[in-house]
Amino acid sequence: MHTDSADTTVHPTPLEERITQDPARFRILTGDRPTGRLHLGHYFGTLHNRVRLQNLGVETFVIIADYQVLTDRDLADDLTGHVEELVLDHFAVGVDPARSTIFTHSAVPALNQLLLPFLSLVSVAELSRNPTVKDEIAHSRQAAVSGLMFTYPVHQAADILFCKAGLVPVGRDQLPHLELTRTVARRFNERYGAGIFPEPEALLSRAPVLLGTDGTKMSKGRGNAIALAASPDDTARLIRGAKTDAERHIHYDPERRPEVSSLLLLAALCQDRAPEEIADEIGALGSAALKKVVTESVNEYLAPVRARRAEYARDRAQVRRVLREGNERARAVADATLAEVRTAMNSDY
Ligand code: TRP
Repeated sequence: MHTDSADTTVHPTPLEERITQDPARFRILTGDRPTGRLHLGHYFGTLHNRVRLQNLGVETFVIIADYQVLTDRDLADDLTGHVEELVLDHFAVGVDPARSTIFTHSAVPALNQLLLPFLSLVSVAELSRNPTVKDEIAHSRQAAVSGLMFTYPVHQAADILFCKAGLVPVGRDQLPHLELTRTVARRFNERYGAGIFPEPEALLSRAPVLLGTDGTKMSKGRGNAIALAASPDDTARLIRGAKTDAERHIHYDPERRPEVSSLLLLAALCQDRAPEEIADEIGALGSAALKKVVTESVNEYLAPVRARRAEYARDRAQVRRVLREGNERARAVADATLAEVRTAMNSDY
């Protein structure tokens, strides 16, 4: 029987219906910090949604948030390398540069200038209580909290609003930033009476969050992630070392057995089946058999993604060209929005 647990297909909600009926009315923006390769958590959390919407005909912007790297560390190591890897990861999963704009926010001055009026619209108290910022401060590599860390959700509002995106496919951890973006848009419109900005909506994946191999949230910086670009052997090694529990019989029970259940979920997502069904097949064979199934499922699922990535990786000049063109396009869009903002604020001298 097919249950709902690992279902990433999207069921008609009013928003989904509106998108399918008239994709050209929507614009999405989403993106990542260039701090490492994208992994399976990103893929099932948001990447598949980006590609799905792009393919439906929704105009798509993918931001590589390079300034945001400096929120929790003093220096961004190998920034150029990480930026190019991110572009390759997006190509690999099906983001098409002919249909989507991929760009870095540091290359778009007018986007960054929006930060100043936006900062005037939020209070220090609002910034202080952002739960995602609090969590990132707790995991930060820096002893002191920088002004950039404290204000980055407002910068992220500029990332989203510069192109007037109405939809933002993100993971749940980004919801406080979306809420702040909506607040900034609403207050700008109220204060300057211009109706310039839409209040964007988050588009969440229906897939539950995947855990990393250590049983905590899968994350680029924690050494617990399976990168899309990992080799089949590395994938096998990582999964072999994944944390499980002492119970031999394999059951899907996310509450009581989070690590085993997350592995089952991963296999289920790759096979497009229910995790309970896979658990039943493994049953008494235990966690070694489970890990074998997971490894095979992941490697099979990612084979075409990895092949496409390797193909694109041969042509670095193309990667740079796509970025240059993306930056140019983003600059044109940001310039137009900033011009409207300056008019609304009576500062277009
Ligand atoms: N903060 C996001 C993350 O860490 C990255 C990001 C920056 C982003 N700007 C954005 C995501 C705008 C969505 C929209 O994953």
